[in-house]
Amino acid sequence: MDATLLLTADHNRVRGLFTRFRSAKENDDKAGMTTLAATILEELDIHTRIEEQIFYPAVKAADSDLGEEVAEGLQEHHVVKTLAAEIEALAPGEEEWAAKLTVVTEMVEHHAEEEEQEMFPKVRNLFDVDALAQLGDQMEAMKAELGAPTVQDKEAFTTERLKQLATAQEIPGRSSMNREELLATVAPS
Ligand SMILES: [Fe+2]
Ligand SMILES: [Fe+2]
Repeated sequence: MDATLLLTADHNRVRGLFTRFRSAKENDDKAGMTTLAATILEELDIHTRIEEQIFYPAVKAADSDLGEEVAEGLQEHHVVKTLAAEIEALAPGEEEWAAKLTVVTEMVEHHAEEEEQEMFPKVRNLFDVDALAQLGDQMEAMKAELGAPTVQDKEAFTTERLKQLATAQEIPGRSSMNREELLATVAPS
């Protein structure tokens, strides 16, 4: 599957988690916030590792003009990782803990938007369909190695099931997603 589609799918899955975290916060649902926060940090850890080890280096190697965007992306990851480490050291539910998580959601939303609007269109011009698919395969292999769900793990799901999961996970844009996008985006449970 196209590497930029897979990364966008990760972004949308995390956006769904952010929406659910905000709802839990509004409802003062501390248990919900704690569970969602753990999933958010895990997702961000895997996603940033895949970008840093596979996607960003491939992009930079293909076009050095994109080096600056990659360098800024890495710094944004660094800020998020620093906050994530601080969050993990705090007691879940504390005011400072929740504030740091809110800042993480805002930063990641901005970062993902930039990747999707600015970097990915350039990457799709730079690589042909086969190269994008090959990059996607490498990313999926790394996910499997890290124990994260891959598209293959969900291939047996009916489209109806995928839609139900997308609704439960509050995935943005789910109503206009095709089966391939749903497969890449939903968490298996
Ligand atoms: Fe990124
Ligand atoms: Fe990303």
